[in-house]
Amino acid sequence: MAKRLITTEALGDEKKSEAGLRPRMLQDYIGQTKVREMLKIYIEAAKERNETLDHVLFFGPPGLGKTTLAGIIANEMGVNIRTTAGPAIEKPGDMASILYKLNEGDVLFIDEIHRIPRQVEEFLYSAMEDFSMDVLIGQGASAVSKHFSLPHFTLVGATTRAGMLTAPLRDRFGVVTRLEFYSDEELKQIVKRSAGVLQVEIEELGALEIARRSRGTPRLANRFLKRVRDYAQVVGDGVITKELADKALDLLEVDKEGLDHIDRRVLTAMIEKFHGGPVGLEAVAVSIGEDAGTIEEVYEPFLVQNGFVARTPRGRIVLPKAYRHIGLPEPETDTAD
Ligand code: ADE
Repeated sequence: MAKRLITTEALGDEKKSEAGLRPRMLQDYIGQTKVREMLKIYIEAAKERNETLDHVLFFGPPGLGKTTLAGIIANEMGVNIRTTAGPAIEKPGDMASILYKLNEGDVLFIDEIHRIPRQVEEFLYSAMEDFSMDVLIGQGASAVSKHFSLPHFTLVGATTRAGMLTAPLRDRFGVVTRLEFYSDEELKQIVKRSAGVLQVEIEELGALEIARRSRGTPRLANRFLKRVRDYAQVVGDGVITKELADKALDLLEVDKEGLDHIDRRVLTAMIEKFHGGPVGLEAVAVSIGEDAGTIEEVYEPFLVQNGFVARTPRGRIVLPKAYRHIGLPEPETDTAD
């Protein structure tokens, strides 16, 4: 299936192009006020004591700034960052060679840390706790275990699925913090800042329009900004106004609430085919030819979070906001239940 424009996972080489827009220091980071203030204090304290920062775990939906914050921690501490991801570390040996190359104080960033294999996870315990590792050298009966001391480092882990981490791993992080969706006002500030970096002129209301349709997610805001910039350059005179942002985003089929055509199909099917529910997820999925798991993990969270759909013990129901948004009348209720 083609990736949706509103997917909050990074598209193509977006991770690279995002790098230019990422704030490098805490003072340039917008939003996540609590996390920012907390990190500021911990970083200052660690620097004063000449120590490395405790291991940090960020969790929350994709696109909210976990990678950015890992980079900021390294910059603020004045150390190097080494980046890897859960699926890239297949066996303890892979982890050992990464750890072996670290220098004193470095940040090791592991994205999607919930996806590291169990054996690798167990291997990490001593590295995190005592900064040491036992590595098996050789094979079979002649293999010997060798003990290595490691430099002190800060592990920054990121996960979209905190529930999938085992307790022993989670407990080895000194700082565990959740990233939240951003407000429209915060996203507007981010869009304005990114427009400055990209050297594109943007009006206040243009920035707000992009912010509003970005589902609380900076990755989407920056993605939309780039598409709107292209539109403004070709169709307009290069300045992003509200009108141009509106037209460009309409063309991309991202509506005023940040919903795309598949979100709207889900809602329309629930209303027209199932009288607004309660309806089971499977039934909705079959009726629009989508996979139930995909609906549950990709489409539904945003619809639930934003009051379009509610989960009840009897199934999913469509809420009044969705009827208004889709433009269909709410059914008359003929029973009291
Ligand atoms: N770009 C992406 N996320 C950002 C943030 N939180 N603050 C500033 N610029 C950003």
